[in-house]
Amino acid sequence: MSDRLIIFDTTLRDGEQSPGATMTEDEKIEVARQLARLGVDIIEAGFPAASPGDLAAVKRISQEIKGVTICGLARANFADIDAAWEGVRDAEQPRIHTFIATSPIHMEYKLRKTPDEVVEAARAAVRHARSYVSDVEFSAEDATRSDRDFLCRIFAAAIEEGATTINIPDTVGYATPQEFAELVRYIQEHTPGIEKVTISVHCHNDLGLATANTLAAIQVGARQAEVTINGLGERAGNTALEEVVMALHTRKDIYGGVLPRVVTEQIVPTSKLVQRITGIHVQPNKAIVGANAFAHEAGIHQDGMLKHRATYEIMTPQSVGWEASRLVLGKHSGRAGFSARLKELGYGDLSRERIEELYQRFIALCDRKKTVTDADIVAIVEEQLAQVPEQYVLKGWRAHSGSDGRAEAWVKLLVNGVEREASASGNGQIDALFKAIDRLVGRHCELASFHVDAVTPGEDAQGEVSVHLRCGDHVYNGRGVATDVIEASVRAYLMALNRAALTSSAEVVS
Ligand code: KIV
Ligand code: ZN
Repeated sequence: MSDRLIIFDTTLRDGEQSPGATMTEDEKIEVARQLARLGVDIIEAGFPAASPGDLAAVKRISQEIKGVTICGLARANFADIDAAWEGVRDAEQPRIHTFIATSPIHMEYKLRKTPDEVVEAARAAVRHARSYVSDVEFSAEDATRSDRDFLCRIFAAAIEEGATTINIPDTVGYATPQEFAELVRYIQEHTPGIEKVTISVHCHNDLGLATANTLAAIQVGARQAEVTINGLGERAGNTALEEVVMALHTRKDIYGGVLPRVVTEQIVPTSKLVQRITGIHVQPNKAIVGANAFAHEAGIHQDGMLKHRATYEIMTPQSVGWEASRLVLGKHSGRAGFSARLKELGYGDLSRERIEELYQRFIALCDRKKTVTDADIVAIVEEQLAQVPEQYVLKGWRAHSGSDGRAEAWVKLLVNGVEREASASGNGQIDALFKAIDRLVGRHCELASFHVDAVTPGEDAQGEVSVHLRCGDHVYNGRGVATDVIEASVRAYLMALNRAALTSSAEVVS
């Protein structure tokens, strides 16, 4: 049995199904490029039949991202498979992933098909996909609530038709580790032809067991893990890539040296990119990529760490891409020092104009803040990179409030190049400012989430605000960074509205 684990990343497909995680085409390209740098084997780039936008994004990723397999998802019908092929046909290494549900509840209520009809649909789907491409994955949706012998029967049929990977999804996150390992073993022992294909697992985290279930399956022979960055995904999410990869590296004694080809130092940069683009932040105590994952607070731990790191650290922060924070850049550092630091922080390919914009923000920040750290620089760079073309540009704002809770605000924006201003009152300064902006923009979107973080400790810390706005059926995220939390909120709100404006104009054009 091979000791290489294939990493199938579905951040751009299952991950994007998280509420509010919708990404623009350019953002998907950015994530896909970083996933290739991270060293994943397969990028599930989307579900091309779902929408023309999904198809266009999968197609562009297939054309632009090289050195990695690009996969498109398809239900077990010809139209979906044709769309998936259209999406991946230009990839260096294309894959079609087709699926159908196999549990009694899904077959009866969702598909309204008999088990025989489901097997026939799976056969026809795999055969059709194989007429396009030699790399075909077949998944039995809701496998963990399916009859085991039925699973073996449908997998054998898919293999007979030419499937090269057989995926066992725990679609609703129902399995427990021992039970899941037994299921994988049963399938291995009772499915004709299984030795010719790769066994894959795809776990959801509804009971917080996705990583444990994935690792249990790897221990008995699964050699492809379907994962997302930060565990993003439907409901409670999918298995987190970073957790599986680092468990395999850290516990080679248990997993027998089964390893992926992932470049572990790229884990944290990838996590941060996905957080920035989706606006979905991981909790501070999240394994591997949370802000506190390597912070040692208790005196007894700090003492132990100073004597020998391994007393309280099972892997080094550097091994997953955390950098020790270095001080100090000031306004006397100049452009050269600033752009050298940008390079060190992983932003080596920014245009001259972009560096100049960032430098101006950095200088303004130096006037407001005693010490500017790497974290401050990363925060302004990430905010700048998340910007979409701006229909609404902030030119000025003012707000005041009193103990009666009432607040008054004034805002000046450039709206499509024309300077406009408005005032409003509200329940607190941020509410009043958002209302004044709504007047200028001429629409109101529901504030679905509002989140404030300090970039660094200290009284003069920059505040980082993330918002999600629900505008009709879509949710847009925005992010703003400033030493004044109210200004950061206005910036975040405008970024989300600019994203909404971009999408509506794209919809009108297409
Ligand atoms: O969770 C699931 O069953 C899926 C399939 C499409 C593999 O995402
Ligand atoms: Zn899934």
